[in-house]
Amino acid sequence: MKHLLKLGDLTKEEMLETLGLADQLKFERKNNIPHPRLAGKTLGMIFQKSSTRTRVSFEVGMYQLGGNALFLSSRDLQIGRGEPVQDTARVLSRYLDGIMIRTYKQSEVEDLAKYGSIPVINGLTDYAHPCQVLADLQTIREYKGSLLGKKLCFIGDGNNMANSLIVGCIKTGMSVSIGCPAAYKPDADIIKWAHENGDLTITEDIYEAAQGADAVYTDVWASMGMEEEAEKRKRDFAGYCVDSKLMASAKPDAIVLHCLPAHRGEEITEEVFEQHANEIFDEAENRLHAQKAVLVQLLEDR
Ligand code: CP
Ligand code: NVA
Repeated sequence: MKHLLKLGDLTKEEMLETLGLADQLKFERKNNIPHPRLAGKTLGMIFQKSSTRTRVSFEVGMYQLGGNALFLSSRDLQIGRGEPVQDTARVLSRYLDGIMIRTYKQSEVEDLAKYGSIPVINGLTDYAHPCQVLADLQTIREYKGSLLGKKLCFIGDGNNMANSLIVGCIKTGMSVSIGCPAAYKPDADIIKWAHENGDLTITEDIYEAAQGADAVYTDVWASMGMEEEAEKRKRDFAGYCVDSKLMASAKPDAIVLHCLPAHRGEEITEEVFEQHANEIFDEAENRLHAQKAVLVQLLEDR
């Protein structure tokens, strides 16, 4: 693994290796066992969109690994004034050991990797959120013991989360069902790939989607950058809500996951959110452990 641009680039074995290392680093952290595996290394973190979890977990993760992290807002970088990503990539490669970027277009992340000479990590694009899904898989495995044969149901917008969940879950032997309006399906190429490589169902019937699910996942109806569509989306997604009636279709011991931030009363009810808060905040915590695993794998031996 040279970069983490999208989960489609990883083999099943690489993904499971990352999850295994994430578990080990979590154990070391919980038991106060120091693990300064990136001493002297610096990660640059470029943010073109807001973030709470990604920013804090990457920054703290680098400190815990003995390295440093630089928060680079696109408002302050020359990239925000039009300096091409190709040049930014080549300059930052001279100073840093790795770059994490959160931006809009997947092509910007790919270009950063192409023109730079250091590992690049996708911290969310409109297309994918691979770091989140590694943490999600770690969480599902913690609660369910294994991934193979388990079913994940995603309710809502066929967005970056849905795209990455489909790939991550199918690659690790899970089945996936997506309950979404017909006009809001996940990426067409990902759907095609999933049908060829595993068990994916896409339906407008959320109860059918949730049938027998081990994990029920949801995300906001309007992602970052779609603020202008928020009102239209509220109408289009009415009913695509994880509530107690929907949970009755899932397995009785199903967990609920949400990448956060959550909009209570839209994609999830307050009741279901609070009933499953332990799972949701374990999931948020696992961002730290899963990303530290990615950082070690990409930066340790460079
Ligand atoms: N889930 C997630 O990526 O959260 P942030 O937007 O706060 O980083
Ligand atoms: N789909 C959401 C995920 C946030 C972590 C967004 O892109 O805003």
